[in-house]
Amino acid sequence: MTDRKGIILAGGSGTRLYPITIGVSKQLMPVYDKPMIYYPLSTLMLAGIREIAVITTPHDQAQFRHLLGDGSQWGLSLTYIAQPSPDGLAQAYLLAEEFLDGAPSAMVLGDNIFFGHGLSQIMATAMARPAGGTVFGYHVADPERYGVVAFDDAGKVREIVEKPSKPPSSYAVTGLYFLDGEAPARARDLAPSARGEIEIVSLLETYLAEGSLDIQLMGRGYAWLDTGTHGSLLDAGNFVRTMSLRQGMQIGCPEEIAYAAGWIDADRLRDHARTFAKTDYGKYLADLLA
Ligand code: G1P
Repeated sequence: MTDRKGIILAGGSGTRLYPITIGVSKQLMPVYDKPMIYYPLSTLMLAGIREIAVITTPHDQAQFRHLLGDGSQWGLSLTYIAQPSPDGLAQAYLLAEEFLDGAPSAMVLGDNIFFGHGLSQIMATAMARPAGGTVFGYHVADPERYGVVAFDDAGKVREIVEKPSKPPSSYAVTGLYFLDGEAPARARDLAPSARGEIEIVSLLETYLAEGSLDIQLMGRGYAWLDTGTHGSLLDAGNFVRTMSLRQGMQIGCPEEIAYAAGWIDADRLRDHARTFAKTDYGKYLADLLA
């Protein structure tokens, strides 16, 4: 089997965070002590994925390259793909078709932050499914803002509805999608929705229709944080600060994940610790070596 590849979708204009995102891409905004994109990047790394495409607006690409480079500092291989206009999440599969080259994928939205004991395990299950797809449902207070799961009487997933005014359940579909190598071909066959976008839920529907979409529910012990509004961006930063200070463990630290996985050696980690020597982040990396 071809290795699963990763996609981080970090395009979009970030209009809901104006004026702060007029000058800088949303996914480069700070979430406490690191840029937002570190978190979804870390999620893919925790799944064991090392070959990753970063999709951004053409305009923002240079800044992402400046921040993340070619990924070799973390033992990764990063590719950059420009999204000329944001025409729906499923468009990412068309843009990444050549990069994927038939491989299965894990796509994460560049503004989605996942945290929880057991995250690696549930992703390992998704990684191991060769055909079909896996998505994750998460109980939220405001499902109407998301893609929402509709269950039938037997508790099986019947439908996924995008931003319903009357949500059929409180389970939102998070922005982390494990799909097989057919996703680009399927995305090509989709008709744009009323709002002119190639919708991710339409793509998921094709898998659901043939019974090959697995929906895992993330329970109470998980945090799935949203950064879509000024308030939720601040809340996410506070959450990361509270948890990491209390536990003395970082959240979303690519250096730590790469080192633990054996993708970088101690010398490399020492270099990183030196780069960040003036910060607690750098001290944390130095402590990992001790
Ligand atoms: C998108 C998807 C939605 C999903 C959400 C997760 O919405 O369309 O189905 O639940 O991401 O973050 P958006 O945030 O682009 O409005």
